[in-house]
Amino acid sequence: MKIKILAIDCSPRKNSNSGALLQHSFETANAKLGGELEMELVHLRDLSFSPCLACGVCGKKKESEEYFPCVQKDDMGELLEKMKSADGICIATPVYFGMPSDLFSKFVMRTRVLRHQDFQLANKPVGIMATAGRRSGGAETAIISAWLPFLRHGCLIVGNGDATCQFGVMGWAGAQGHILTDEWGLEQGEQMMRRIHEVASLVKAGQAQLGGRTPMRFSYTSGNRK
Ligand SMILES: Cc1cc2nc3c(=O)[nH]c(=O)nc-3n(C[C@H](O)[C@H](O)[C@H](O)COP(=O)(O)O)c2cc1C
Repeated sequence: MKIKILAIDCSPRKNSNSGALLQHSFETANAKLGGELEMELVHLRDLSFSPCLACGVCGKKKESEEYFPCVQKDDMGELLEKMKSADGICIATPVYFGMPSDLFSKFVMRTRVLRHQDFQLANKPVGIMATAGRRSGGAETAIISAWLPFLRHGCLIVGNGDATCQFGVMGWAGAQGHILTDEWGLEQGEQMMRRIHEVASLVKAGQAQLGGRTPMRFSYTSGNRK
C-alpha cells in the first residue's frame, strides 16, 4: 500500500543533520519496502511563519460548530494542509538543551487549529528523530517532549519499530552532515520509517473498512471550569 509521509526538519541551519537523517532514512526504508513510501521533506527554516498569537479565534464556533481557520495568513496554512493529507508524519529535530528546537515549538503551537477542528490529525502515526551533539546529550528527553503535542492531537506515537522498538531515533552528531556516519542512528531512522509505514497501512485499511475519518469531536466545555 502506498503511504505518504510528511517529513519535517526542525533545524534552523542549512544542510542539517536532521534533514540528512530524514532523507537517508526514507531512502533506505523505501528500498526495503519496494517503493511503497512517498516522502515530502519540509525544512521549517525555509518557511515564513509567525508564532501563535493565542487570540483564541481558530477552531470551531461554539454554537454552529462551523470551522474557523487561523487568522494569520502565512506559510503555515499550506503546511497544515500537508499534515492533514499525509498518512504519517516524521519529525526530526536537533536537541537544544535537552529539548526539541525552538523552531519545532513555534511550528507545533500553530497546529492547534487542527485539534480544535475535531482532531484532524487523529490516528496519524508520528515518529520523532532527535539528534544530539553528545552521547547522553538529551535525545530521549527531546523525543518525549515532542510526543506531547501529538498525543493531544490524537496521533499514534511510534518508536523505532523493528528489532528494538525504542523511543524514537537518537542521532549522535555535531557538525553538519556528521549524522551520515552515525551507523546506529541511521539504522534506527530506517526502522522508524518502516514502522510509520506499517502503522499507517493498518490505519488506512481500517478506515477504508469502517468508512471514514475519526469520530473524535472537540469539546470546549469538557475539563473546563466556568
Ligand atoms: C542552542 C543549542 C543547544 C544545544 N543543546 C544541545 C544539548 O542539550 N545536547 C547536545 O548533545 N547537543 C546540543 N546541541 C548540539 C546539536 O544538537 C547538534 O549539533 C545537532 O547535530 C544539530 O542538529 P542539526 O544539524 O539538525 O541542527 C545544541 C546546539 C545548539 C545550537
